[in-house]
Amino acid sequence: MSAIIVTGAGTGLGKALAVEYSSNFETVILIGRTKEALEQTKRELEEMNKQAFVYPLDITDYEAVQRAAEELAQQFTIQGLINNAGYGAFGPLESITESDIHKMLDTNVKGTIFMTKAFITVFKEQNQSFILNIVSTAGLRGKVNESVYVASKFAVRGFSESLVKELEGSNVEIKAAYMGGMDTPFWDDSDHIKDKSRLRSPMDVAKKIRELDDGRFEIIIE
Ligand SMILES: NC(=O)c1ccc[n+]([C@@H]2O[C@H](COP(=O)([O-])OP(=O)(O)OC[C@H]3O[C@@H](n4cnc5c(N)ncnc54)[C@H](OP(=O)(O)O)[C@@H]3O)[C@@H](O)[C@H]2O)c1
Repeated sequence: MSAIIVTGAGTGLGKALAVEYSSNFETVILIGRTKEALEQTKRELEEMNKQAFVYPLDITDYEAVQRAAEELAQQFTIQGLINNAGYGAFGPLESITESDIHKMLDTNVKGTIFMTKAFITVFKEQNQSFILNIVSTAGLRGKVNESVYVASKFAVRGFSESLVKELEGSNVEIKAAYMGGMDTPFWDDSDHIKDKSRLRSPMDVAKKIRELDDGRFEIIIE
């Protein structure tokens, strides 16, 4: 059964991407830490006559990610992975806590690397497969009060660009998407964005990503 994995699929952009990409695959594998949120996305997909499979997972846990890859590859023909899960904490550098520094680097950088490393072998066995990394315009240029988040997203950009070169000519396509602010739960615990209702909706951005997902390795939505 052909499947795509979306991380952070219980909320925001991940949920919208799960909906948007569901038409290309028989099943969408929904990953995140909060089972109830993933179940809600699954229900919404089923209402659209799409199949979904909930797999609760903390992408910062290397061993758990390895196990997930083994288990999921036995059940599904996984042809796509969207590394979307992410975390941000904002403010002047001295106000960013040690815990938030670890959380941003662990989730955005190591989580993306762990997932990609765990599934790359599976993908190399497919005729055609892809990995789409959700970065941000924070992966394109520095921003005030976003230093650590920007550092984490520059890392994901470097990782993606290097894999494009490493896997050139192979059957695994690597792409990265860079978008501006979206109205999602991402901003719930932050006052960095004053009025998030002015931001783009995640569904609009997900649609735009899919529209521009036509073979280019950089998808930029300013
Ligand atoms: N919102 C924006 O303005 C904006 C702009 C540009 C780029 N982005 C990027 O877009 C992506 C999606 O963000 P969003 O805006 O949709 O925010 P969001 O609603 O907060 O989504 C983030 C998702 O990541 C999951 N997640 C976090 N840590 C995880 C972990 N350790 N293991 C597994 N899942 C984890 C969360 O689920 P659980 O907590 O249940 O695990 C959540 O569903 C992120 O990479 C973000 O950096 C956001």
